[in-house]
Amino acid sequence: MNILILGSGGREHAFAWKIAQSKHCDKLYVAPGNAGTAKVATNVDIKVSDFNAIENFCIQHGIDMVLPAGEETLVKGIYDYFLQHENIKHIPVIGPSQHGAQMEGSKAFAKSFMLRHSIPTAAYKEVTLQNIEEGKRYLMDSPLPIVLKADGLAAGKGVVICETHQEAQEELSQMIESAKFGDASSKVVIEQFLKGIELSVFVLTDGKDYLLLPTAKDYKRIGEGDTGLNTGGMGAISPVPFATHELMLKVEEKVIKPTIAGLQKDKIIYKGFIYFGLINVNNEPFVIEYNCRMGDPETEAVLPRIENDLVDLFQAVADEKLNTQVLKESTEAACTVVLASGGYPSEFEKGFEINFENEKSDALIFHAGTQFNQHQKVITAGGRVLMVTALDNNLKNALKKAMTATSEIDFKNKYFRKDIGLDVC
Ligand code: AMP
Ligand code: GLY
Repeated sequence: MNILILGSGGREHAFAWKIAQSKHCDKLYVAPGNAGTAKVATNVDIKVSDFNAIENFCIQHGIDMVLPAGEETLVKGIYDYFLQHENIKHIPVIGPSQHGAQMEGSKAFAKSFMLRHSIPTAAYKEVTLQNIEEGKRYLMDSPLPIVLKADGLAAGKGVVICETHQEAQEELSQMIESAKFGDASSKVVIEQFLKGIELSVFVLTDGKDYLLLPTAKDYKRIGEGDTGLNTGGMGAISPVPFATHELMLKVEEKVIKPTIAGLQKDKIIYKGFIYFGLINVNNEPFVIEYNCRMGDPETEAVLPRIENDLVDLFQAVADEKLNTQVLKESTEAACTVVLASGGYPSEFEKGFEINFENEKSDALIFHAGTQFNQHQKVITAGGRVLMVTALDNNLKNALKKAMTATSEIDFKNKYFRKDIGLDVC
C-alpha cells in the first residue's frame, strides 16, 4: 500500500516511523513533513490545506490510504472532500467527517453533544454578541476561577482561566467584541472550573466499535512544576500510573461508550481517533475537551507502546471491522521530553544547526520543527524542535534515559523541562 500522512510535527514523524514498520506499507509519503520524516518517508511539498493538490498527488502516486494527523485538515473537511470526488472516493481517510471534527472545531458543539448524551463535563453557558449581557451576569454569579473558551480553533490559545470576575468580564468582552481570537471567539463557552489532575485518553473508532489506546499525560506548561505559559505540550508519559483499572472502567462506561453511541445516534460519521481530554475529580472522570486527532507530544509516547501493525488497525477502521482487532500494549513505560527553542511559546530564534554527534542512547528521536539547510544539515525551524522518547520497564528509568538522551543532542538556546513524569512517579 502507498500511504500519505498529512502534517509536519513530532506526531507525524512518530506516525511515519510506526507506519514504515508495517508489512502493508510500500511507499510512504508525508506532506509537508520535516527533516525527521525525510528519514523514514518521502516528503512532499504540499500544504495540508491544499485539498486539490492532495487529490492530484493521490491520483498520480496511487495512494491507498490517507492519514490527516492534525485538526486543521479534518475541521476543513478532508474526509468529505475525498468522498465527494469520484477519482479519490475509494481512498480511505483515517479521520472523522467534517461534522465529526466539530467535536474539536467548536467547543459549543462539543458541550451540547455532551449535555445531550449525558457525558460528565463542567456546567457551561454559550455566549455571543446577542446575549453578552446575560453572559456577563452568568460570570458574576459563577464561583472563581472561571474558564472562558473561544468556540473555534485558536491554535491552542483560546482557553483563558480567570481569577476575578472583573478579569472574566473584560476577557469575555475582548473575545466577543474585540475579536481577540478572530472569528474563533465570536462565540464563547463559559465553563465552571474543575479541580483535579488531567489525563489524555485516546480511542481509535470505526464509528461502531473502538480500541482503547494506551493512556498518556501531557505537560502543557512551559515551566517546571507546571508553571508559566501554556504550550503545545512539553512532554508526555505513558501509561499514566493513576489511570487505574477502576478509573479506566469509569472512563469507558461514563465517557467513551456514551460518546460513540452519541455519534451513532446523531448520525455523525467518525472513523478515526478521538482524544478525550479528561480531568480526574475525586476519582470521577470529566471531559474538558474532545480532539478529533491524536495528541502531540502524547503520540510520541503512545505509539512506541503499541505492538500492533498500525495499518492493520487503520484498514479495520476503513472496513468497519474494528471488532476483529485487539490492541496489543507493551508493558514498557515511555517518557517523551520536548526539546524547544529558548523563548518558546513567546518569541524565539530559529535556524540553528542541531548536533546529533554525541547521541549514543537508544532513545527514539522524533522531529517537529526541523528542516534541512542548503548544506543538508538539520536546523531548528520551530518552537518545539525535537521529541525524545525513552522506554524502560519502569517509568523512573524511562525518565532518566530520556534525560540522558536530551543531554546528548545540542543546539543553541535548547530548552526542555527536566521534571516530565516526576509528579506521578
Ligand atoms: P483545552 O484547550 O480545552 O485543552 O484547555 C486548555 C487547558 O485549560 C486544559 O488543558 C486545562 O488545563 C484547562 N481547562 C480547560 N477547561 C477547564 C475546566 N473546566 N476546568 C479546569 N481547567 C480547565
Ligand atoms: N498535547 C495536546 C494536544 O495535542 O492538543
